[in-house]
Amino acid sequence: MIFYFTGTGNCLYVARKIQEIEGGKLVNMAHALNEKKFNYKIEKGEKIGIIFPVYFWGLPTIVSEFVNKLNLKTTENPFIYTVITCGGHVGNADKNLGNLLELKNLKLNSSYSVKMPSNYIMIHDITNKENINSVMGMAEKQVKKLIERIKKNKKGYFADHGSIAIVSPIPNRLYGVLRKTKKFYATEECTNCGQCEKICPSQIIHMEDGKPEWKEKKCSHCTACINRCPSQAIEYGNSTKKRGRYVNPYIEFS
Ligand SMILES: Cc1cc2nc3c(=O)[nH]c(=O)nc-3n(C[C@H](O)[C@H](O)[C@H](O)COP(=O)(O)O)c2cc1C
Repeated sequence: MIFYFTGTGNCLYVARKIQEIEGGKLVNMAHALNEKKFNYKIEKGEKIGIIFPVYFWGLPTIVSEFVNKLNLKTTENPFIYTVITCGGHVGNADKNLGNLLELKNLKLNSSYSVKMPSNYIMIHDITNKENINSVMGMAEKQVKKLIERIKKNKKGYFADHGSIAIVSPIPNRLYGVLRKTKKFYATEECTNCGQCEKICPSQIIHMEDGKPEWKEKKCSHCTACINRCPSQAIEYGNSTKKRGRYVNPYIEFS
């Protein structure tokens, strides 16, 4: 079984690649959290994959909330691996996940990272096509390599933590402060299509008088609304006005 979370498709791309070889059901952690589906029966010998983007060198809120509530029905200790996608490094994200699983008497057996185009356009713009194609080319190779290791149930934390992962608690805490919704707004380009309301994994966007409203003070900051708006009509303060938008080039969201 492969549990995944994605804002802009990178993790879904990786999850599908692994599923092509390893098989297993794909479970969207955001949907499962919203539908309160936390109980999963795991067959003998079945592996568990947990695939998500790193946020501030730690876990997205949706992932930590889901894993906290997860209940695996197993007859033996399943082999659990994680693949974390990132724009650079993952810091302590795999260790944080390992700690959460330990509270449930589960062991994280291996961790991998895949460097992919960064979708955090509120911070930086690296959405030009050449950059995306070159990063995706390298990502494809990394994914092939890690699938070989997953096939063999290799144990170990192989993710790229970065040289100063020890300071991860600082960005982890910053995430709590920065993931505010106050600066999101829709421009004149908004066509009232309601796509942002449908795709928001935190389900906090509601259409009012033909325009989206962010109804909570904080969200996961996954960037799905701003990057996947078909009219590029969502902005975040002034920072995103002149920036491109990013969706994984191999994923078509319906
Ligand atoms: C809120 C937020 C925080 C992020 N923090 C980091 C980070 O600390 N380190 C990093 O390398 N990439 C970071 N990124 C980039 C994403 O982890 C990366 O683009 C990921 O592949 C996106 O996956 P997705 O397309 O499945 O949502 C961040 C992105 C967002 C939206």
